[in-house]
Amino acid sequence: MDAREMKVKAAQAALAYVEDGMRLGIGTGSTADEFVRLLAEKVHEGFKVEGVPTSERTARLCVELGVPLRSLDELPELDLTIDGADEVDANLTLIKGGGGALLREKIVAAASSRMIVIADESKLVGMLGAYPLPIEINPFGQTATQIAIEKAASRLGLSGELKLRKSGADVFTTDGGHYIFDASFGRIPDADALSAELNFIPGVVEHGLFIHMASLAIIAGEAGARTLEA
Ligand code: 5RP
Repeated sequence: MDAREMKVKAAQAALAYVEDGMRLGIGTGSTADEFVRLLAEKVHEGFKVEGVPTSERTARLCVELGVPLRSLDELPELDLTIDGADEVDANLTLIKGGGGALLREKIVAAASSRMIVIADESKLVGMLGAYPLPIEINPFGQTATQIAIEKAASRLGLSGELKLRKSGADVFTTDGGHYIFDASFGRIPDADALSAELNFIPGVVEHGLFIHMASLAIIAGEAGARTLEA
C-alpha cells in the first residue's frame, strides 16, 4: 500500500464518525483532501452536512466537489473536525501546520466538540519534533520575534534553526496574511512548556503544537486503519 492509499484508508475510517446533519470542521492537507473527496460522494448520495473549511485551499476543493460550506461565524459551534497532522504522539499531541493552515485549523478544532486526526503511520512518533515546528508570526518585527522564540526555546534547553517559510522566491503568506517560521528544535520532550513559552511572545500568532485537542487518531498502515484514543 502506498502513502496515498493509506491516507484514503484513514479518511474512509473517519467517515464512519460523520453523522447525517453534522456541522463539520474540514481540515487541510493531502489526507484531509482524501476525506473531502469521500465526503463529497456521501453528499451526492443525499447525506446532509455543513462544513467549515480550515483554509482557502480546502474551501476551493469543497466548492469544486459540491460539499456545502458555511463560515465559522455562521456555524460557531461544530460537532466534529477531521484533520490531518504532521506528527502524532501516543497522547495525541500533534504537530500541525505543514500546509500552512495551523491558525484556522486550531480555531476550527477549538470550536468543535470533537477532533479526529487522520494520518498514515509515518506520522506516528515516539516523541514530537523530528518534523520542524511551524510557528505563525506577524510580519511586523519578525526579527525581534525570531530572537524571542530562540530565547524562549533555549530556556527549555532547545535550539535549532528557524527558517522563514518560502513559496518559490517569495515569503510564504498564510490565509491570514502572516508568515511562518519552521523551527528545527529536534525532539520536544515538554510540548506544554514550549507551547506556554511561545504563547507568551506577542509576535507569535499561533504555533503548530495541538495539545489536548484531538480525542481520536485514525492511523492507517499496511494492516489497515487502527484508532488511538487520548
Ligand atoms: C496543514 C496541516 C496538515 O494537516 C498537515 O500538514 C498534514 O498534511 P498531509 O495530510 O498532506 O500530510 O497541518 O496545515
